[in-house]
Amino acid sequence: MRHLLTLLDWTSEELTNNLALAAELKRGVRAREFPTLLSNRQYGLIFHKNSLRTRVSFEVGIRQLGGESMVLTEQDFKLGERESIADVARVLSRYVDGILIRTFRHQAVEELARYAQVPVVNMLTDFSHPCQILADALTIMEHRGQLEHTKVAYLGDGNNVTNSWINLAARIPLDLRIGTSPQTEPDPQLMEQARQAGLSRIEVFHRAEEAVEGADVLYTDVWASMGEKDKTDERRALLRDFQINANLLRYAASDALVMHCLPAERGVEITDEVLDGPQSVILDQAENRLHAQKAVLVQLDRWHNS
Ligand code: CP
Ligand code: NVA
Repeated sequence: MRHLLTLLDWTSEELTNNLALAAELKRGVRAREFPTLLSNRQYGLIFHKNSLRTRVSFEVGIRQLGGESMVLTEQDFKLGERESIADVARVLSRYVDGILIRTFRHQAVEELARYAQVPVVNMLTDFSHPCQILADALTIMEHRGQLEHTKVAYLGDGNNVTNSWINLAARIPLDLRIGTSPQTEPDPQLMEQARQAGLSRIEVFHRAEEAVEGADVLYTDVWASMGEKDKTDERRALLRDFQINANLLRYAASDALVMHCLPAERGVEITDEVLDGPQSVILDQAENRLHAQKAVLVQLDRWHNS
């Protein structure tokens, strides 16, 4: 059974094909063409954290493809509490064609996938946010004409989004430069694994200017993710020098793209001036969640039914 729990679940070729399918589906939407590739398919969505982009883009995308979705709330069942994760996975698999989940513990999603008889998609865990980075990759391709060898400077907290960038670098050649404090570096094992893959350069810098030097993309995310808002003050102290602002932007390539997965804490990890400035592509990223995820669901459905 194929799933999308992290980008490492898919090969380089599968990820590249996915981006091509996403671009094709996007052209279709622009032409008001909606191929019903998921007609009669049902999807169950589980959210243990807030969401704007992920929820709306998945629900709209599924409908555009002729399928239907339902959001399962804590009132319906408490995953792993009212009954085991394995039993939830087995039962849901008898009703729906895919289970989509956003939760805290990545291991819970792995367990769900282990027992599910239908594809499982990770809509974000504390560890990983693969759908976001697929949409970001599509955005970079649209704006730069290619993804390979893009010099991406990720500034800020080493979190689920950073981890997914590192996973992408294990599959697609990138020059990934992570600017963060020694206390907020991303998962060392993931970095090692991605370096072993031998495709990309992955470096960590403790000075923002060095990370950003000549970069094609400047990327950031909140410094305290969902579930760790109690760390807000501590992170602000550790990461204050890693804010993306007009001064830092000067160190990047003159046509560098500014990216943020959103939601943003304006004035904290990035200034309004840059977030709303001419180099920002944040709304394209948000839109591309729709197209990239539609491609993910179509691909998983093809594997499941072949
Ligand atoms: N970027 C992202 O995943 O947004 P939401 O948390 O609003 O879904
Ligand atoms: N790192 C952020 C991403 C939100 C889309 C979080 O987990 O809250």
